[in-house]
Amino acid sequence: MRMGAATALGVAALLLVGGCDDMTKQKKQNPYASRATAPGEVPAGTVQYGETATPVPPVTMALLARGQSEYHVFCAPCHAETGDGHGMIVQRGFPAPPPLAAARPQFVYDVVTDGRGVMYGFAQRIAPEDRWAVVAYVHALQRSQRMALADLTAEQRAVP
Ligand code: HEC
Repeated sequence: MRMGAATALGVAALLLVGGCDDMTKQKKQNPYASRATAPGEVPAGTVQYGETATPVPPVTMALLARGQSEYHVFCAPCHAETGDGHGMIVQRGFPAPPPLAAARPQFVYDVVTDGRGVMYGFAQRIAPEDRWAVVAYVHALQRSQRMALADLTAEQRAVP
């Protein structure tokens, strides 16, 4: 009896495999056979997915202040307030990021948006304009660490 059941199962399996083979030969629509639109062209009546490029906002004190508060919330836990990469999460065992070195603004923006290695992206958490604010703040943070007080004008030194 048990052998009989096994044989029946085997036959059923063979029939199923045979059935799969037939499916590869059946008539079907090939989505790549012909294109109604040129590559990269959006078909009429559809909405493009994803965000459109946000213009880079001019650097103002208000933008830097916004960037500082976003950096404090989202980046300092790993990169530390100074950007040296020894934030609290790293002290608790998360892989240490390299010190935030001078980098092109677009590179920093893309890393914040998409993440890099073990660092997750912030596209869902930080709005595009605020990401540019973080980029401007990171740049200011780096410059502040290479700047001698003598390089500042009296007016710049007076800014709180
Ligand atoms: C959970 C920890 C964590 C958080 C939060 C985090 N990062 Fe990172 N970040 C990393 C790690 C780790 C790397 C190194 C990734 C790699 O190269 O594998 C990294 C890499 C980077 C790099 C590239 C550095 C280089 O020279 O390759 C930049 C720029 C950066 N982070 C900026 C930010 C900014 C700005 C924020 C806040 C919006 C942020 N990160 C939040 C962990 C973090």
